[in-house]
Amino acid sequence: RHHSVDNLYFDKKQYLQWEFPKKNLKIGRILGQGAFGQVHEAWAEGLDSVVKPEKVAVKTLRERATAEEKEALKVELDQMIYVGNHPNVINLLGACTYGGQLLIIMEYAAHGNLLNYLKNKSLQLDFAYRDATNPLIVTEDKDILSFAWQIAKGMSHLESLKCIHRDLAARNILISETMVAKVSDFGLAREAYESGYYFKESKGRLPFRWMSPESLLSGQYTTKSDVWSYGVVLWEMATLGGTPYPGIPPEQMYEMLRSGYRMPRPEHCGQEM
Ligand code: ADE
Repeated sequence: RHHSVDNLYFDKKQYLQWEFPKKNLKIGRILGQGAFGQVHEAWAEGLDSVVKPEKVAVKTLRERATAEEKEALKVELDQMIYVGNHPNVINLLGACTYGGQLLIIMEYAAHGNLLNYLKNKSLQLDFAYRDATNPLIVTEDKDILSFAWQIAKGMSHLESLKCIHRDLAARNILISETMVAKVSDFGLAREAYESGYYFKESKGRLPFRWMSPESLLSGQYTTKSDVWSYGVVLWEMATLGGTPYPGIPPEQMYEMLRSGYRMPRPEHCGQEM
Protein backbone atom coordinates (compact mmCIF):
# COMPACT_ATOMS: atom_id res chain seq x y z
CA ARG A 1 0.00 0.00 0.00
CA HIS A 2 2.80 2.38 0.86
CA HIS A 3 5.33 1.04 -1.60
CA SER A 4 7.49 3.68 -3.13
CA VAL A 5 6.39 5.29 -6.36
CA ASP A 6 9.36 7.65 -6.38
CA ASN A 7 10.67 8.64 -9.78
CA LEU A 8 7.60 7.23 -11.44
CA TYR A 9 7.46 10.34 -13.58
CA PHE A 10 11.14 11.14 -13.85
CA ASP A 11 11.89 9.69 -17.24
CA LYS A 12 8.73 10.70 -18.99
CA LYS A 13 9.23 13.29 -21.65
CA GLN A 14 5.68 14.61 -21.46
CA TYR A 15 6.22 15.55 -17.82
CA LEU A 16 9.67 17.08 -18.38
CA GLN A 17 8.13 19.61 -20.70
CA TRP A 18 5.83 20.77 -17.88
CA GLU A 19 8.31 20.48 -15.02
CA PHE A 20 8.46 23.55 -12.79
CA PRO A 21 10.98 23.98 -9.94
CA LYS A 22 9.12 23.67 -6.65
CA LYS A 23 11.47 26.16 -4.97
CA ASN A 24 9.95 28.88 -7.20
CA LEU A 25 6.50 28.09 -5.84
CA LYS A 26 5.16 29.86 -2.77
CA ILE A 27 2.11 27.99 -1.52
CA GLY A 28 -0.68 29.81 0.32
CA ARG A 29 -4.11 29.05 1.76
CA ILE A 30 -6.40 26.18 0.81
CA LEU A 31 -8.95 27.01 -1.89
CA GLY A 32 -10.74 23.71 -2.00
CA GLN A 33 -10.63 20.17 -0.72
CA GLY A 34 -11.26 17.09 -2.81
CA ALA A 35 -11.57 13.40 -2.09
CA PHE A 36 -7.84 12.72 -2.12
CA GLY A 37 -6.20 16.09 -2.50
CA GLN A 38 -6.49 19.78 -2.00
CA VAL A 39 -6.08 22.93 -4.03
CA HIS A 40 -4.02 25.81 -2.67
CA GLU A 41 -3.49 29.30 -3.96
CA ALA A 42 0.17 29.84 -4.81
CA TRP A 43 2.58 32.20 -6.48
CA ALA A 44 4.86 30.92 -9.19
CA GLU A 45 8.03 32.84 -9.87
CA GLY A 46 9.22 33.03 -13.45
CA LEU A 47 6.51 30.69 -14.71
CA ASP A 48 6.07 32.53 -17.96
CA SER A 49 9.25 34.64 -17.86
CA VAL A 50 7.21 37.36 -16.17
CA VAL A 51 8.73 39.79 -13.72
CA LYS A 52 6.43 39.31 -10.76
CA PRO A 53 5.28 35.93 -9.44
CA GLU A 54 2.06 34.81 -11.04
CA LYS A 55 -0.89 33.79 -8.88
CA VAL A 56 -1.79 30.19 -9.63
CA ALA A 57 -3.69 27.26 -8.12
CA VAL A 58 -1.81 24.13 -7.06
CA LYS A 59 -3.37 20.71 -6.60
CA THR A 60 -1.54 18.37 -4.26
CA LEU A 61 -2.08 15.06 -2.52
CA ARG A 62 -3.06 14.94 1.12
CA GLU A 63 -0.40 13.91 3.59
CA ARG A 64 0.21 10.17 3.70
CA ALA A 65 -1.57 9.67 0.40
CA THR A 66 -1.78 6.10 -0.82
CA ALA A 67 -0.23 4.88 -4.06
CA GLU A 68 -3.74 4.69 -5.53
CA GLU A 69 -4.42 8.32 -4.71
CA LYS A 70 -1.13 9.33 -6.24
CA GLU A 71 -1.97 7.36 -9.35
CA ALA A 72 -5.35 9.14 -9.52
CA LEU A 73 -3.65 12.56 -9.40
CA LYS A 74 -1.20 11.42 -12.05
CA VAL A 75 -4.11 10.42 -14.30
CA GLU A 76 -5.60 13.87 -13.72
CA LEU A 77 -2.32 15.46 -14.83
CA ASP A 78 -2.25 13.17 -17.88
CA GLN A 79 -5.76 14.27 -18.78
CA MET A 80 -4.91 17.95 -18.42
CA ILE A 81 -1.88 17.53 -20.66
CA TYR A 82 -4.00 15.62 -23.17
CA VAL A 83 -6.85 18.15 -23.21
CA GLY A 84 -4.55 21.11 -23.81
CA ASN A 85 -5.52 24.76 -24.03
CA HIS A 86 -9.05 26.02 -24.43
CA PRO A 87 -10.54 29.21 -22.98
CA ASN A 88 -13.36 27.25 -21.31
CA VAL A 89 -11.20 24.55 -19.77
CA ILE A 90 -8.93 25.16 -16.79
CA ASN A 91 -5.43 25.34 -18.20
CA LEU A 92 -2.41 23.43 -16.99
CA LEU A 93 0.55 25.73 -16.30
CA GLY A 94 3.10 23.26 -14.97
CA ALA A 95 3.81 20.37 -12.66
CA CYS A 96 6.33 19.32 -10.01
CA THR A 97 6.99 15.62 -10.47
CA TYR A 98 10.63 15.16 -9.42
CA GLY A 99 11.57 12.86 -6.59
CA GLY A 100 8.20 11.21 -6.31
CA GLN A 101 6.32 14.39 -5.46
CA LEU A 102 3.30 15.42 -7.47
CA LEU A 103 1.89 18.93 -7.77
CA ILE A 104 -0.34 20.18 -10.54
CA ILE A 105 -0.04 23.91 -11.27
CA MET A 106 -3.06 25.38 -13.01
CA GLU A 107 -4.56 28.76 -13.74
CA TYR A 108 -6.15 30.55 -10.83
CA ALA A 109 -9.88 31.26 -11.04
CA ALA A 110 -10.60 34.36 -8.95
CA HIS A 111 -14.35 33.78 -8.54
CA GLY A 112 -14.00 30.19 -7.36
CA ASN A 113 -16.43 27.46 -8.33
CA LEU A 114 -19.80 27.97 -9.99
CA LEU A 115 -21.79 26.29 -7.20
CA ASN A 116 -20.58 28.78 -4.59
CA TYR A 117 -21.02 31.60 -7.09
CA LEU A 118 -24.68 30.58 -7.58
CA LYS A 119 -25.31 30.23 -3.87
CA ASN A 120 -23.86 33.69 -3.20
CA LYS A 121 -25.98 35.10 -5.96
CA SER A 122 -29.02 33.46 -4.40
CA LEU A 123 -28.28 35.15 -1.06
CA GLN A 124 -27.76 38.54 -2.73
CA LEU A 125 -30.99 38.23 -4.72
CA ASP A 126 -32.97 37.11 -1.68
CA PHE A 127 -31.89 40.33 -0.08
CA ALA A 128 -32.37 42.60 -3.10
CA TYR A 129 -35.76 41.18 -4.12
CA ARG A 130 -37.32 40.91 -0.72
CA ASP A 131 -39.88 43.64 -1.44
CA ALA A 132 -39.97 43.44 -5.19
CA THR A 133 -43.20 42.59 -6.93
CA ASN A 134 -41.81 41.34 -10.24
CA PRO A 135 -40.79 37.69 -10.29
CA LEU A 136 -37.15 36.76 -10.51
CA ILE A 137 -36.28 34.82 -13.65
CA VAL A 138 -32.76 33.59 -13.01
CA THR A 139 -32.27 32.20 -16.49
CA GLU A 140 -32.50 35.72 -17.87
CA ASP A 141 -29.41 36.60 -15.88
CA LYS A 142 -26.73 37.46 -18.46
CA ASP A 143 -23.81 35.96 -16.51
CA ILE A 144 -25.58 32.68 -15.90
CA LEU A 145 -26.71 32.33 -19.52
CA SER A 146 -23.20 33.12 -20.66
CA PHE A 147 -21.75 30.47 -18.30
CA ALA A 148 -24.14 27.89 -19.76
CA TRP A 149 -22.89 28.70 -23.26
CA GLN A 150 -19.24 28.71 -22.22
CA ILE A 151 -19.47 25.37 -20.41
CA ALA A 152 -21.01 23.90 -23.56
CA LYS A 153 -18.04 25.17 -25.57
CA GLY A 154 -15.57 23.70 -23.07
CA MET A 155 -17.37 20.34 -23.14
CA SER A 156 -17.51 20.44 -26.93
CA HIS A 157 -13.73 20.75 -26.90
CA LEU A 158 -13.50 17.65 -24.70
CA GLU A 159 -15.84 15.77 -27.03
CA SER A 160 -13.65 16.65 -30.02
CA LEU A 161 -10.79 14.90 -28.19
CA LYS A 162 -12.95 11.91 -27.20
CA CYS A 163 -12.41 12.89 -23.59
CA ILE A 164 -15.23 11.93 -21.23
CA HIS A 165 -15.30 14.11 -18.12
CA ARG A 166 -17.60 11.92 -15.95
CA ASP A 167 -17.88 14.49 -13.15
CA LEU A 168 -19.42 17.55 -14.76
CA ALA A 169 -21.22 19.51 -12.02
CA ALA A 170 -21.40 23.16 -10.94
CA ARG A 171 -18.84 22.44 -8.18
CA ASN A 172 -16.34 21.53 -10.92
CA ILE A 173 -16.77 24.66 -13.02
CA LEU A 174 -14.43 27.52 -12.12
CA ILE A 175 -15.06 31.20 -12.81
CA SER A 176 -12.10 33.40 -13.73
CA GLU A 177 -11.47 37.01 -12.80
CA THR A 178 -12.97 38.10 -16.13
CA MET A 179 -16.07 35.91 -15.64
CA VAL A 180 -15.00 33.15 -17.98
CA ALA A 181 -16.39 29.71 -17.05
CA LYS A 182 -13.85 26.90 -17.14
CA VAL A 183 -14.46 23.17 -16.91
CA SER A 184 -12.13 21.73 -14.28
CA ASP A 185 -11.43 18.69 -12.14
CA PHE A 186 -10.27 16.01 -14.50
CA GLY A 187 -9.85 13.48 -11.71
CA LEU A 188 -12.42 11.17 -13.24
CA ALA A 189 -11.88 12.13 -16.88
CA ARG A 190 -10.88 9.43 -19.34
CA GLU A 191 -10.10 9.13 -22.99
CA ALA A 192 -12.64 7.03 -24.79
CA TYR A 193 -10.10 5.85 -27.39
CA GLU A 194 -11.79 3.91 -30.18
CA SER A 195 -15.14 2.76 -28.88
CA GLY A 196 -16.43 6.02 -27.47
CA TYR A 197 -17.28 4.15 -24.26
CA TYR A 198 -15.63 4.06 -20.90
CA PHE A 199 -16.66 1.46 -18.34
CA LYS A 200 -15.89 1.91 -14.70
CA GLU A 201 -15.55 -1.40 -12.91
CA SER A 202 -14.83 -0.49 -9.31
CA LYS A 203 -17.16 1.75 -7.38
CA GLY A 204 -15.63 4.72 -5.61
CA ARG A 205 -17.60 7.73 -4.52
CA LEU A 206 -19.84 8.55 -7.44
CA PRO A 207 -21.72 11.74 -8.31
CA PHE A 208 -25.11 9.95 -8.42
CA ARG A 209 -27.26 13.05 -8.88
CA TRP A 210 -25.34 14.06 -12.01
CA MET A 211 -25.25 10.59 -13.54
CA SER A 212 -27.29 9.35 -16.49
CA PRO A 213 -29.43 6.19 -16.11
CA GLU A 214 -26.93 4.07 -18.08
CA SER A 215 -24.01 5.28 -15.95
CA LEU A 216 -25.98 4.54 -12.79
CA LEU A 217 -27.04 1.09 -13.99
CA SER A 218 -23.95 -0.24 -15.73
CA GLY A 219 -21.10 2.22 -15.23
CA GLN A 220 -21.19 3.11 -18.90
CA TYR A 221 -19.89 6.58 -19.73
CA THR A 222 -19.93 8.35 -23.07
CA THR A 223 -20.01 11.92 -24.35
CA LYS A 224 -23.79 11.51 -24.12
CA SER A 225 -23.67 10.82 -20.39
CA ASP A 226 -21.63 14.04 -20.06
CA VAL A 227 -24.48 15.80 -21.91
CA TRP A 228 -26.89 14.42 -19.30
CA SER A 229 -24.70 15.88 -16.55
CA TYR A 230 -24.67 19.17 -18.44
CA GLY A 231 -28.47 19.18 -18.21
CA VAL A 232 -28.20 18.75 -14.43
CA VAL A 233 -25.73 21.69 -14.37
CA LEU A 234 -28.34 23.83 -16.17
CA TRP A 235 -30.80 22.83 -13.46
CA GLU A 236 -28.26 23.88 -10.80
CA MET A 237 -28.02 27.25 -12.53
CA ALA A 238 -31.78 27.73 -12.79
CA THR A 239 -32.14 26.98 -9.07
CA LEU A 240 -29.10 29.08 -8.08
CA GLY A 241 -27.19 26.18 -6.63
CA GLY A 242 -29.93 23.80 -5.56
CA THR A 243 -29.22 20.10 -4.93
CA PRO A 244 -30.63 18.02 -7.81
CA TYR A 245 -33.52 15.65 -7.01
CA PRO A 246 -34.17 17.31 -3.65
CA GLY A 247 -35.37 14.90 -0.99
CA ILE A 248 -34.67 11.81 -3.09
CA PRO A 249 -32.08 9.46 -1.53
CA PRO A 250 -29.34 8.40 -3.97
CA GLU A 251 -30.28 4.71 -3.78
CA GLN A 252 -33.73 5.54 -5.19
CA MET A 253 -32.43 7.62 -8.06
CA TYR A 254 -32.01 4.87 -10.61
CA GLU A 255 -35.47 3.40 -10.05
CA MET A 256 -37.12 6.82 -10.30
CA LEU A 257 -35.29 7.71 -13.51
CA ARG A 258 -36.05 4.30 -14.99
CA SER A 259 -39.74 4.74 -14.33
CA GLY A 260 -39.62 8.02 -16.27
CA TYR A 261 -39.32 10.56 -13.48
CA ARG A 262 -37.57 13.82 -14.43
CA MET A 263 -37.09 16.95 -12.37
CA PRO A 264 -39.78 19.57 -13.05
CA ARG A 265 -38.98 22.99 -14.49
CA PRO A 266 -37.56 25.07 -11.63
CA GLU A 267 -39.79 27.82 -10.29
CA HIS A 268 -37.60 30.67 -11.48
CA CYS A 269 -36.77 29.18 -14.85
CA GLY A 270 -38.53 30.93 -17.74
CA GLN A 271 -40.89 28.80 -19.85
CA GLU A 272 -38.81 29.30 -22.97
CA MET A 273 -35.65 28.16 -21.21
N1 ADE B 1 -10.51 25.87 -6.45
C1 ADE B 1 -10.16 24.72 -7.04
N2 ADE B 1 -9.39 24.97 -8.12
C2 ADE B 1 -9.25 26.32 -8.20
C3 ADE B 1 -8.59 27.21 -9.09
N3 ADE B 1 -7.91 26.73 -10.13
N4 ADE B 1 -8.69 28.52 -8.87
C4 ADE B 1 -9.40 28.99 -7.82
N5 ADE B 1 -10.03 28.22 -6.96
C5 ADE B 1 -9.97 26.89 -7.14
